[in-house]
Amino acid sequence: MVNRNDPRQYDELAEEWWKPNGAFAMLHWLAKSRCALIPEPARADAVLVDIGCGGGLNTKHVSGYRHIGIDLRQPNLRLAADHGLAAVRGDALRLPVADESADVVVAGEILEHVPDWRAAVAEACRILRPGGTLVVDTLADTWLCRFVAVTLAERMPGGPPPGIHDPALFVPPQALLSECAGFGVTLELWGLRPAALSLVRWLVRRRGEVPMITTRSKSILYAGRGVKHAHGSAHGRRDA
Ligand SMILES: C[S@@+](CC[C@H](N)C(=O)[O-])C[C@H]1O[C@@H](n2cnc3c(N)ncnc32)[C@H](O)[C@@H]1O
Repeated sequence: MVNRNDPRQYDELAEEWWKPNGAFAMLHWLAKSRCALIPEPARADAVLVDIGCGGGLNTKHVSGYRHIGIDLRQPNLRLAADHGLAAVRGDALRLPVADESADVVVAGEILEHVPDWRAAVAEACRILRPGGTLVVDTLADTWLCRFVAVTLAERMPGGPPPGIHDPALFVPPQALLSECAGFGVTLELWGLRPAALSLVRWLVRRRGEVPMITTRSKSILYAGRGVKHAHGSAHGRRDA
């Protein structure tokens, strides 16, 4: 029995990444809504760093960037590379990327998987160029999220693999806003949920795609985007 959130669980699940109706179905739906937040590349050699890229699901929706994926697990990186990512082994808490070198940083469903989300945010903001865009989505540190994403969802057919989440690591939205602001990134956050009817249809027939829609409540799943202002601090230092 491995501990909750042990990243080695992904090695067993490698074959699931690219099955649209497999264990990571919701990550497919999320990749689409997340990548819609990515701006058009401002120049030919623009760089997008995809932190915790997993099997590379964002590649379906990203074009025009030099797309670099970073992940802890080798089987994920192999798959991501097969789908066109420049895949690099690394830790979200210590990214192997130079300061202020990314035009876009994507942190999709990764902050709730690291032992110190504040350190991961510091790293994401460190590698982002002034004027660059940070795109995030994660799970909220609330009882409702623990109930829905762990107690309920892990028991549902098609839900997240049991043990993949550790609710102790979920991220408070307000604290994420303040943390990013401290590094010069002004985030706007909103709630996200699967469209109810499509989800029911998907649960019954296990076919088709479920659109993710925005909600006012950020108490379960939430997403956001922000731009790093010109004087944002690098090296994980906070703005004065
Ligand atoms: C829920 S998956 C999200 C994958 C991808 N972002 C997506 O949305 O399809 C979390 C990913 O983060 C990776 N991961 C977990 N801890 C990590 C860490 N400390 N540094 C880098 N990657 C990590 C896992 O291996 C896994 O691929």
